[in-house]
Amino acid sequence: MSQTPFVPESKLPALGTTIFTQMSALAQQHNAINLSQGFPDFDGPDYLKARLAYHVSQGANQYAPMTGVLPLREAIATKTAELYGYKPDSNSEITVTAGATEALYAAITALVRAGDEVICFDPSYDSYAPAVTLAGGVMKRIALQPPSFRVNWQEFAELLSPRTRLVILNTPHNPSATVWQKSDFAALWQAIKDQEVYVLSDEVYEHICFAAEGHASVLAHPQLRERAIAVSSFGKTFHMTGWKVGYCVAPAALSAEVRKVHQYLTFAVNTPAQLALADMLTAGPEHYRELPAFYRARRDRFVQALSTSRLKVLPCEGTYFLLADYSAISDLNDVAFCQWLTKEVGVAAIPLSVFCADAFPHKLIRLCFAKQEATLDAAAERLCQL
Ligand SMILES: Cc1ncc(COP(=O)(O)O)c(C=O)c1O
Repeated sequence: MSQTPFVPESKLPALGTTIFTQMSALAQQHNAINLSQGFPDFDGPDYLKARLAYHVSQGANQYAPMTGVLPLREAIATKTAELYGYKPDSNSEITVTAGATEALYAAITALVRAGDEVICFDPSYDSYAPAVTLAGGVMKRIALQPPSFRVNWQEFAELLSPRTRLVILNTPHNPSATVWQKSDFAALWQAIKDQEVYVLSDEVYEHICFAAEGHASVLAHPQLRERAIAVSSFGKTFHMTGWKVGYCVAPAALSAEVRKVHQYLTFAVNTPAQLALADMLTAGPEHYRELPAFYRARRDRFVQALSTSRLKVLPCEGTYFLLADYSAISDLNDVAFCQWLTKEVGVAAIPLSVFCADAFPHKLIRLCFAKQEATLDAAAERLCQL
């Protein structure tokens, strides 16, 4: 007798394979240069790799403490103090997570209750909305407009309601490559200060910022940081996206709630990688201090190489992504254009509309420049022929 083939009703019916996976698969199939998914095609520092091997060989192979190994939390506290003038308590305010993705998920799960509203800014990173939906929350989106993608604070004030629980922001911003200024944080504080609204600040590209005034972190704002969870990723900072180690900084009471979720989501993050990262932060802080110059050189080389193309490149203030307007080349919508570009031209990119819940009629694609110079030159040569 055959058994009934149960198919569970999906809790996320609209979700399929992400565009990043799709485009990378298409790039592989057509042997295209892959500027779609956001990861470097070069390795992280040798010292970091050596320290990982060292800690594995020394037997640091059992569970780490739930909140992260102490040397790493201390190194994060020191780095935060150096950069943002505020030293979080390494015991109660810093939690090491399985990439920024886990920190984002744990924060959203800890804070958002059924019926709560969550404000985010589109285009937005794809992991926020599913986590809000699973928590029973409702997304309220502000559509940022190219080319500046700046927040209209009047629009924000109008969207705020008694049900607003959380604001999710991302600076430097993937995919628009714009950054928040101190004045944006000041405006955010003015808007929410009288209400119990929390802030989730996705700052995974904190060390890849080219703006003259540097990265404005939520942690540098004395009042906002009392309400905020700031999230970062060592994958981005040390060119090791596959290690999946990130962290979040939040006041003790907020951290306690995030840790309740983290405890049963992953419990702890792999021990030798944490110890190696602690060594790296302590022995080689010049790595993250020099990261803006490292990526600025790649950005400038790529922009220069594209200067004779018919793509119109938008300003890039941070992240390792560059936006390009292809309206002089094609009338196709951005998804169709990216598929055509991958198959026919041999360069894979990401269409901007996939980061937006509402229609995004602009002809913009995202190109990742965290690539070797030869890769960027080869891609630019193909793009210049369009
Ligand atoms: C804006 C943003 N947030 C979060 C993440 C996830 O970071 P991690 O790989 O550390 O989970 C990414 C990765 O691309 C990102 O671009």
